[in-house]
Amino acid sequence: MDMKISPSILASDYANLESELKRIESSDLIHVDVMDGHFVPNISIGAPVTAAIKKVCSVPFDVHLMISDPLKYTEDFAKAGADIICFHIESDSDTEKTIDKILSVGKKAALAIKPKTPVEEVIPFLDRLSMVLVMTVEPGFGGQSFMEDMMPKIEKLRVLGYKGDIEVDGGVNPETIKLAAKAGANVFVAGSAVFKSENPADTITLLRNNAINA
Ligand code: DX5
Ligand code: ZN
Repeated sequence: MDMKISPSILASDYANLESELKRIESSDLIHVDVMDGHFVPNISIGAPVTAAIKKVCSVPFDVHLMISDPLKYTEDFAKAGADIICFHIESDSDTEKTIDKILSVGKKAALAIKPKTPVEEVIPFLDRLSMVLVMTVEPGFGGQSFMEDMMPKIEKLRVLGYKGDIEVDGGVNPETIKLAAKAGANVFVAGSAVFKSENPADTITLLRNNAINA
């Protein structure tokens, strides 16, 4: 299975997004964290900023919607250039209808679960999802510690025969990535680990190699 690194621009310098994106152009995906101050306590960026940076970046966008009503904004993010639209099962939107909407606008659908949500909740939707995001921190903030106790959720999905992508998000670094890869994850979000490092491109290579060799 392809191991993909998806740096989170939440940890980048928002005053210089174009040059920040250049530093991570060797990545497989760009993780765009969208927070509405309601589903999570923070507010980050929305569709207009996503559309602006899409124009200066050719790496596919992995848009993580931490918002209460993803159904309402799906079209906006599709137009803004999202390639994968990931929303939370704990949001207020109807899960089935939101997946329908994402697929109808020609994008890949992904479903995210918070640490306290049992993985069993995503099972009814697996056949329509390109990716499941298993959060390894409480969503809302970068720079938190990786929750190793989420690994059984990933293992369970693989035991069930899920062949799509499994993404982990939160506290991923060159060490914790090995645990997630061993459990069966193959898409790895890393914010602080990439952007707070001296050489983001080297860190991306290190992360990818550590995942491959785990
Ligand atoms: C957390 C976000 C993450 C965050 C990860 O709510 O969904 O994508 O940016 O940041 P690090 O890698 O610093 O834990
Ligand atoms: Zn995220």
